Amino acid sequence: MDEQPSIKALGYLDLPVEEGLDLASEIANLKKEKNVVILGHFYITPELQDISDFVGDSLGLSQEAEKTSADIIVFLGVHFMAETAKILNPSKKVLIPDLNASCSLAESAPADAFKAFKDKYPDHKVISYINCTADIKTLSDVICTSSNAVKIVESFDKDTKLIFAPDKNLGNYINGLTGREMVLWDGACMVHEQYSLEKILDLKSKYPDAKFIAHPECEKPLLIIADFIGSTTALLNYTINSKDNRFIVATESGILHQMKKSSPGKIFMPAPSVDATCGCNDCSYMKLNTMEKLYLTLKYEQPEVILKEEIMDKARIPILRMLEISKNL
Ligand code: 13P
Ligand code: SF4
Repeated sequence: MDEQPSIKALGYLDLPVEEGLDLASEIANLKKEKNVVILGHFYITPELQDISDFVGDSLGLSQEAEKTSADIIVFLGVHFMAETAKILNPSKKVLIPDLNASCSLAESAPADAFKAFKDKYPDHKVISYINCTADIKTLSDVICTSSNAVKIVESFDKDTKLIFAPDKNLGNYINGLTGREMVLWDGACMVHEQYSLEKILDLKSKYPDAKFIAHPECEKPLLIIADFIGSTTALLNYTINSKDNRFIVATESGILHQMKKSSPGKIFMPAPSVDATCGCNDCSYMKLNTMEKLYLTLKYEQPEVILKEEIMDKARIPILRMLEISKNL
């Protein structure tokens, strides 16, 4: 594996893929040969979703990572998700096709700044949204996702003072649902903050039969007008179970693939962005995962997610606490 220095420079294997290769069948062969499980998030491209062993939201993927018997985990998502899988499987090889697959929310909470913030509230417990780095997880009492946030918050007594980080929009939404006054870190997701309220209202009046559904990472004005709010899995299930036929969807565009697959007769419209030309409904980090990079990752077993033992040991505690509280979800 002399080629590995290119990972350090670029974050992924910069090697040519043999021309004419049937990538889907090569990937399937390598996966079988090496006893690999491929875990994919709903935001990756349709072809990557279709070759994943499990496609899901952050909670579902953590639950799958916890119980896998594969020797190698390949994570098709973003770095914090692969880190979580590694923390839950410290002796396994966890691979991610591109180490640059970050997350704007995770980046919005640098560990030093968050530690200083936390120190201002010494009597507060910390709930961190899973979209954060392993370092932030070590500073947290429990982790949550958008699927289980209410349950996690309500696992604390009403009078326990809480910090919620890093997503202020999700934190605000959960404060409203639970009547808490959690102190919020000022972070947000670049994809979920770029929708145009005005254009969504226009679309709703053009299609009065459409249900507007939104991820709780969206800003408050959008959540106020939403017919349904939920995690990616909850949004998908809502469209499957609903008698309605048309949906305006305010979350990353990748989820539309599963929605269309599950309900072929229904119409799904991506919520419009402020800038119509930017393709902002795509998470540029999620879209760093490609078939070519996945093939090279399986072949060379690189890039690997490496974390210090002490970080993993500390970060595992709040993750396991979340999984315990979420057992029946
Ligand atoms: P879910 O947990 O709903 O899949 O959300 C993950 C995410 O990154 C949302 O932007
Ligand atoms: Fe992070 Fe937003 Fe991308 Fe989700 S959509 S991974 S929160 S940047």
